[in-house]
Amino acid sequence: MLIPLIAGNWKMNTTIHQGVDMVIKLRELLRGVDSVEAVLAPPFTSIHHLSHIVADSPIKLCGQNLHWEKSGAYTGEISAEMLVSAGCLYVIIGHSERREYFKETDEMVNKKVMAALRAGLRPIVCVGETLDEKERGKTVSKVKSQVKKALTGLTGGALKDITIAYEPIWAIGTGRNATPQEAEEVHNTLRELLFELYDTDSIKNTRIIYGGSVKPDNIDSLMAQPNIDGALVGGASLKAEDFARIVKFQSE
Ligand code: 13P
Repeated sequence: MLIPLIAGNWKMNTTIHQGVDMVIKLRELLRGVDSVEAVLAPPFTSIHHLSHIVADSPIKLCGQNLHWEKSGAYTGEISAEMLVSAGCLYVIIGHSERREYFKETDEMVNKKVMAALRAGLRPIVCVGETLDEKERGKTVSKVKSQVKKALTGLTGGALKDITIAYEPIWAIGTGRNATPQEAEEVHNTLRELLFELYDTDSIKNTRIIYGGSVKPDNIDSLMAQPNIDGALVGGASLKAEDFARIVKFQSE
């Protein structure tokens, strides 16, 4: 049985002080929660500070991006080693906002996955289709291709540290989440793809989580699906009470 992973992606929101206030509240609200892995991805500037605040709590920290090189003349970039030293265990890779606004390609995503694993970080690899692709019936081919390319060159042993996040782009920040059935169908297809690519033992701990307008009022029905192993939450992770309610989802 996989332990669900609920991650909050704060995107480009919160100063250090705002982040500290939020995490102090969240630490209280999540006291005693041990059946779910709760993860927060704050801006880079807050990570180290927050690492002290989450130290005695079950909350883990996550980068929102990384560069694949260890160090060097890459102004403005952050390496996997830097994220580890700041206190991260996870890193989000290939979020649709990075793919769209910063032109990240599947090849770059793959290099980032490799770099993260080398440094001991657990990648949360994002995939998802646009509204146009959904309407043209391209969802499955798009997400399967993204997953295959992201995992190129990975042996089975690495899969225990990988989480796939299915985030339909039309559902991000729109208030329109995929229905639990729609999401389940895609997750099931991705699970089958992992079975084709790797042996059962390698992927038994690989989580496939859902993202896109996850809120306190839809998390329970999403988590009731057999192939949804958690959630990647944007807007609702910026309110401690809402995020805590999502982490404490109730299985139906
Ligand atoms: P929202 O939950 O705001 O739709 O964002 C989802 C997301 O992009 C998480 O990475």
